[in-house]
Amino acid sequence: MTTLATATLDPTDITSPAFRADPFPTFKRWRDERPVVPVKTMVGRAWLLTRYDDVEQGLKDERLVKNKANTATPDKPHRGAPLPGFVKAIQTNLLDTDAPDHTRLRSLIHQAFLPRLMAQMQTRVHELAHQLIDKAEQKGEMDLVRDFAVEIPLVVICDMLGVPEKDRDKFHHWSKTMTNIGKPIEAIMAMPSMYSMVGYLRKLFRHYRENPGDNLATMLVKAESENSSLSEDELVGMAGILLSAGHETTSGLIANGTLALLNNPDQLERLKTEPALMKSAVEELVRFAPPVLIATPRYAREDYEVSGTKISRGDSVFAMIGSANHDERKFEQADQLILDRASNKHVGFGQGIHYCVGAPLARLEASTSFQVLFERLPNLRLAVKPEELRWTAGLVPRGLQAMPIKF
Ligand code: HEM
Repeated sequence: MTTLATATLDPTDITSPAFRADPFPTFKRWRDERPVVPVKTMVGRAWLLTRYDDVEQGLKDERLVKNKANTATPDKPHRGAPLPGFVKAIQTNLLDTDAPDHTRLRSLIHQAFLPRLMAQMQTRVHELAHQLIDKAEQKGEMDLVRDFAVEIPLVVICDMLGVPEKDRDKFHHWSKTMTNIGKPIEAIMAMPSMYSMVGYLRKLFRHYRENPGDNLATMLVKAESENSSLSEDELVGMAGILLSAGHETTSGLIANGTLALLNNPDQLERLKTEPALMKSAVEELVRFAPPVLIATPRYAREDYEVSGTKISRGDSVFAMIGSANHDERKFEQADQLILDRASNKHVGFGQGIHYCVGAPLARLEASTSFQVLFERLPNLRLAVKPEELRWTAGLVPRGLQAMPIKF
């Protein structure tokens, strides 16, 4: 049995753009030869779970917690570094908390994303997609990432929260710096963005406390004042996670998904001629071209064993979503894009209590985007050679830096 202290670290840099361009052969090697891989990451040394069963179980496992302080025992207290107030506020969010705080925060927000409410947003997303394509046609060129895939989720989440149009670009900049973090230096470089975003959100909430509107920010400040169910930091943490988690991820699905369809012209042709395929196509694109490659870190609350490897209390563990979704032990022809794949139990939106709260919105945005994009631009193709495409660095989301297209 191996422990992290004695394990030989794998040298792969899982945050590098080169690895993220095509991580799937490495994932396969790991699944076959060493399914629980020790690597060095920005949270220190960590274990990577690579097989579907281990990932699915790991995402649900109560022995793995999200808040490292919850790994403490009376004889081994947790000694976290002192954090400035704005970092603490941003970290007071769903993805960094465990029950019971997580349960309380989640119950406040989940009704904002009910499929019934999402369906009402269909028209807005549809109009927005058409406007973006009108603009691209006038310019005669388009970077699918910047001019389309990023814009749709950015506008939608800013509108939902009540962020005015003039401030949207700031949010894009802040959330981009805060989500594409793979190295400690990048975490330090993200501090000014974090600081500005927290200051902005505090002002936004102050504004809606005095001038209530029909938006999520108003709903959250009401929850704060009516039943004291949210602290000021929790308000900020909630808005911060919705803005960042709801934005880089969906843009990744739209751009990675379009690229996957261009690389599989037979499947793209089927989608154009059989629109009823869209629902299963979106699920297959989340599986095949995962916009979230790696789940956020978890920490072992006790010693336990996974696939013959001993994980010790306090160790960091990453569930490799992109590897699980290509595991041939779970999916037939796992490396093929099959838009009408039957029984597609992918883990692209996570699993367990942290399952993506925004999944209904992401599905709506992606299906509407693909529908409008291929209807309006039937001759859409890459304007650069595939090998010229560059992927972003980072740990969690997987996306393209740019995707110039011709149409
Ligand atoms: C294609 C787009 C998306 C993908 C692939 C995705 C994926 C994920 C995954 C894998 C998790 C779990 C992470 C973990 O357990 O470590 C997650 C959680 C979360 N997602 Fe998404 N997401 C997407 C879009 C969205 C959108 C549009 C929103 C909101 C506007 C959103 C908000 C959240 C939040 C708040 C959580 C934390 C939930 C919790 O801890 O209870 N996501 N997402």
